[in-house]
Amino acid sequence: MRILPGPASKELGEKIAKLLGLEPIPISFKVFPDGESYVRLEGAVEGETAVIVQTTSPPQDQRLIQLALMVDAAKRHNAKTVVAVVPYLAYARQDKVFLKGEAISIEAIAKMLWAVGVDSLITVNIHEKNTVAKFPFPAKNLSAIPLLAEHFKQRGFSDAFLLAPDKGAVGIVQEAAAVLSCECGYLEKHRDRYTGLVSVEKREFNVRNRTAIIFDDIISTGGTIVAAANLLYELGAAEVYAACVHPLLVGEAEKRLREADVKEVIGTDSVPSPVSKVSLAPLLAQTLREL
Ligand code: R5P
Repeated sequence: MRILPGPASKELGEKIAKLLGLEPIPISFKVFPDGESYVRLEGAVEGETAVIVQTTSPPQDQRLIQLALMVDAAKRHNAKTVVAVVPYLAYARQDKVFLKGEAISIEAIAKMLWAVGVDSLITVNIHEKNTVAKFPFPAKNLSAIPLLAEHFKQRGFSDAFLLAPDKGAVGIVQEAAAVLSCECGYLEKHRDRYTGLVSVEKREFNVRNRTAIIFDDIISTGGTIVAAANLLYELGAAEVYAACVHPLLVGEAEKRLREADVKEVIGTDSVPSPVSKVSLAPLLAQTLREL
């Protein structure tokens, strides 16, 4: 097996290689003046399982193209098998036709990756776990929630209230609760499909004078966490924290979260960011060992 850390996940790829006791294959990349991407593998993959580690957080389209080029390069240079490790798989939230005339974006992306030569894929907390069953190649969806929950456990958050900010995150919060042995609940969220504005249905939770942690798969604009945090504070929570697998934190998300008095955001290095305090490397290295 050879590990190829793509430009979007260089550190994570190198950590995985180290845990596996392998020397990573460096990849050089550049962007031409007109915006097109270029990649070159700086080592041989002939006859090997080439594991390409490349997240596809913003700028998603560029990172997807880089991934496609790395897959093509590996296949063209006679890799036996290409495994794409894509911790954050872009376009996964558009997994059905919500409004007439739309594409199913994630299915289009999977077909593109298959066409270019991906033999199998590993991702982490894809937005809807059943999506991977529709991919044209074998795909594994891992969960980083136990790692995030363990982070809070180590810090002594044993009496926190755990909240899923929408129904889609109920499974996530239950997984976290199993590690932290904490009480949990969920909200009903509504997002306007045209404006993107988020609102949550008011519910009662036993959070007065307690610490609460909101768990979600993604924090993008921060709107979902802010709406949930506002409600928790209204209900008397002492402190609100947020945990997510994929801290996209676009635009002014961090500022919005600070202004909503979210004490700290903890994310993983699925998306490198200042809040990416939990590494996926051990989980991914273990999964690759078992291939
Ligand atoms: C959507 O349902 C996801 O699970 C997240 O809740 C959502 O992507 C977060 O987006 P934002 O931070 O923009 O509210």
